[in-house]
Amino acid sequence: MLKEIFEQPEVAKNILKERIKNRTICFEELAFPKSVFKKIKNIAIVACGTAYHASLTGKYALEELARIPVWADTSSEFRYRRPLVGKDTLTIFISQSGETADTLAAMREAKKAGAKTLAICNVLASSIAREADGVIYTHAGPEIAVASTKAYTAQLVVLYLLTIHIARVRGAISNKVKQKLIGEFRKVPRLLKEILEGPSGSRNKCAAYADDFRKYYRKMHNKSTFLYLARNINYPNALEGALKLKEISYIAAEGYPAGEMKHGPIALIDENPWVVCIATDSAVYEKMLGNIQEVRARGGKIIAIVTKGNKDLAGQKINYVIEIPKIDDFFSPMLVAIPLQLLAYYVALKFGLDIDQPRNLAKSVTVE
Ligand code: AGP
Repeated sequence: MLKEIFEQPEVAKNILKERIKNRTICFEELAFPKSVFKKIKNIAIVACGTAYHASLTGKYALEELARIPVWADTSSEFRYRRPLVGKDTLTIFISQSGETADTLAAMREAKKAGAKTLAICNVLASSIAREADGVIYTHAGPEIAVASTKAYTAQLVVLYLLTIHIARVRGAISNKVKQKLIGEFRKVPRLLKEILEGPSGSRNKCAAYADDFRKYYRKMHNKSTFLYLARNINYPNALEGALKLKEISYIAAEGYPAGEMKHGPIALIDENPWVVCIATDSAVYEKMLGNIQEVRARGGKIIAIVTKGNKDLAGQKINYVIEIPKIDDFFSPMLVAIPLQLLAYYVALKFGLDIDQPRNLAKSVTVE
């Protein structure tokens, strides 16, 4: 898993190199004409697990930039509830393996209902890739560890490219805006490398915080839990951070949109849970600061993920702070994913667990 985490800058770099040619976004293997993206009235993105979290980020990105209604669904829900899709809907199915039973079945349902199907897959010629009307490969290379890391960021990179492409084809953004976005996007591989390997990289911090957590967990008689809070385009990362941790460390973890705290989860906050707050620079940053104060006031331990140069938290005596480099908030989910993966990895490592083969899980879920 650690090897795959460290491959992410290279994977992102290769995808951008392959897909952006002469300032144009190309999906060469995609059999659709551009007109499909013009004609559709809505988009459904369907997947399981980590790929579902990528789908949810895709919803935020597409609605923001292409101004088209998008919903994200888990495959197991989509397939059994007669979803409202038809010829006006583009249905996108995301799967690393391309063999996930629920996602394949959901895609067949969408086809039956007359919707166009587009697969975003990592494994070449997999069932989902073969059966879809069109496919875009993520080309992340083989992912062996059960917990998905580089496939997730590759899915995000492809979704962002697709978002910019669809937004431009539909005339929701000008060519000038498109080029500006591409310029910012091109920074991502270098910034991923900086997070992983730079002088103030996250690796050592995550290892140290994980060690502190292990000691605390023992002190609390193995009862502490994790809560991940975020808003807007990073909210899916809160779900993903919690999933990564529970998959490989078996510690109870929940992801929540921070604005929902007062509607229930705040009841959980005392000195027991460790709360990961994603508070990078964005339009909802102040709101996240408010959430951090609420957690702090109740004694919760906070791990804050912020943008480099943040001064606010020093004054609030937050012990655990992880910085990510500056980038337009729209692209930040790709960067924020890294410390979440490292934190999960190091917690599992400190607990001496089998990280690559966690109990009860299979890499590819080919049965229901
Ligand atoms: C992620 O860490 C998982 N092991 C799992 O949630 C996975 O993402 C899910 O089963 C979907 O798999 P797929 O991408 O191969 O369809």
